[in-house]
Amino acid sequence: MQRSASSFTPFPLNLFKASAGDLENTVRTRAKSVIEPLPKAPESIRAARRMMDSYGRTILDLRISVTDRCNFRCVYCMEPDVQFQPPEALISPAEIARLAKVAGSLGVRKIRVTGGEPTLHPKLEEIISGIRQTSGIEIAMITNGSLLTREKLARWKRAGLDRITISIDSVRSDRFSKVTRSTTTPDDVLRGIDMCIAEGLTPLKLNAVLVRGVNDDEAVELAGLARRFGVEMRFIEYMPLDSAHAWDAAQVVSARETREAIEAVFALTPTNADDPHSTARTYRFADETAGQIGFIAPVSEPFCGACSRLRLTADGNVRPCLFSTKEWSVMPLLRGGASDREIADFLIDVTWTKLAGHNIAAPTFVQPQRPMSAVGG
Ligand code: 5AD
Ligand code: SF4
Repeated sequence: MQRSASSFTPFPLNLFKASAGDLENTVRTRAKSVIEPLPKAPESIRAARRMMDSYGRTILDLRISVTDRCNFRCVYCMEPDVQFQPPEALISPAEIARLAKVAGSLGVRKIRVTGGEPTLHPKLEEIISGIRQTSGIEIAMITNGSLLTREKLARWKRAGLDRITISIDSVRSDRFSKVTRSTTTPDDVLRGIDMCIAEGLTPLKLNAVLVRGVNDDEAVELAGLARRFGVEMRFIEYMPLDSAHAWDAAQVVSARETREAIEAVFALTPTNADDPHSTARTYRFADETAGQIGFIAPVSEPFCGACSRLRLTADGNVRPCLFSTKEWSVMPLLRGGASDREIADFLIDVTWTKLAGHNIAAPTFVQPQRPMSAVGG
């Protein structure tokens, strides 16, 4: 039943050909949350009490979108008039805590709290402390850094938050407003970076998405933040996960192009220390200045082969992949009196549906209906 990892190819050409039926299903997903019966994983797989897919990959990392709302409207993510889910559709802190416990029992070691913008969630502290009840899990959070205060960071840290990643796509004020369509300034975010470091929410990482014609000339300035703060600055290739479905391959700035731009100013040396499941390839500065640069290249060099991730949407759907056109709601189980064992079987079954990988560059690629902000980056 299990396909061998060595025969795995990241670009199966026709896996991505969605039928009209698939698309209809995806639309129905948003309205009703359940699209079709979830196929069962084989008994031998269920018996292992691990989330393992049919390519032999095991889930170690769960990304939970706690809200689809955001106070930014980044050009590569959300349209200005994007529609959010009503608050009652969202999974509750207690439900998140329960899922974390079940996921932990199945081997998950890292939970990333994402959004939308997770710091907008009125019960974020409760969410973090709920996840913290499960031992042995690292809790990281990704934020746009606009709403941070020392006081909030200290509370989240006390609740159990280990690390933060902050998005920053520009250090130029006019540019920052253009990219984020917000009133936040780069200085606000830079202050947030200082605060996270002061609170020990480290190792802190920074994320940037370069979009051609928008901020593609800023790689070196952004790389300078890694040196200034002694942190990892990561460049993520622009993916077709924008709510406008306006992504165009010509706007993608490849990891290689970004690295070459940085190397024209700062020589880089591969760290050769990347976790095999990591999405980023990291480099240090050849002149030994503290800080690192990471490149995340889902478009030009898909890294699905070592994927260890599963995602939970803010409305309680479990997704096998960022690019899935299928997802299944765990809400009927959580709200219908299911046992932990039944919820665990559900997670094992969803994992079993993971496809080998995605190939954004293939002509058959179909962009999922759900934008990144709903899926949990
Ligand atoms: N392509 C690449 N990265 C994206 N992000 C949001 N939308 C996209 C996209 N279309 C990034 C955010 C954040 C992380 C969760 O994902 O900038 O850093
Ligand atoms: Fe908000 Fe993040 Fe999307 Fe920007 S990328 S609009 S900060 S969720």
